[in-house]
Amino acid sequence: MIKILAFAGSGRKDSVNKKVVAVAAKGAEEAGAQVTIVDLESFNMPMFDEDLEAKNGMHEGAQQFKQLLIDSDGILISSPEYNSSYSALFKNAIDWASRKIEGEKPLEAYKGKVAGIMAASPGAMGGMRVLVTLRMLMENLGTMVLPNQKAVGGAFTKFDGNGNITDPATEKALKKIGSELVETLQKLKA
Ligand SMILES: Cc1cc2nc3c(=O)[nH]c(=O)nc-3n(C[C@H](O)[C@H](O)[C@H](O)COP(=O)(O)O)c2cc1C
Repeated sequence: MIKILAFAGSGRKDSVNKKVVAVAAKGAEEAGAQVTIVDLESFNMPMFDEDLEAKNGMHEGAQQFKQLLIDSDGILISSPEYNSSYSALFKNAIDWASRKIEGEKPLEAYKGKVAGIMAASPGAMGGMRVLVTLRMLMENLGTMVLPNQKAVGGAFTKFDGNGNITDPATEKALKKIGSELVETLQKLKA
């Protein structure tokens, strides 16, 4: 079975990117994948610092996050756009998971994986600019990024008070990111 790790680049309790990635995750599940959704905040990763790493070794939470990536075939990411790029929370997690411990291959969390990427913002552009930097980052780490992507503009108006999506066109587009990821991985595995 295809295994997918899904997460948002925001740890905010009411994060719209968490809601967006959950819709894409549903699309991946409906296409037959096993999806694990995680909250990056829950790993309590300190700000990456080589001196800290030399002193304490790999952070336990960071290793847990990295292991989840290693155990996955594909990744679903919805990122907030902070000043036209990704959040520090997201980049910090990506940097930690790029570090290897004994027995791991270089960039094992990223190489040979496929990712579906999304962004969400209350603004009209939906965080479209972060998708450029996010794609470049993931590709540079060895993850193939699906050509199809989605920036959700006016994102605060697209979910109800319970976090359920209310806009059918957006729901369809997000689920398609999830299902395309599964279909691509199935083809690669065949
Ligand atoms: C430091 C900072 C910078 C931001 N920069 C942008 C930006 O460049 N473009 C944008 O559309 N929204 C920007 N925003 C607004 C975010 O899109 C908004 O806070 C969004 O809700 C964050 O995603 P989340 O709901 O998943 O936490 C910024 C917010 C913060 C805190």
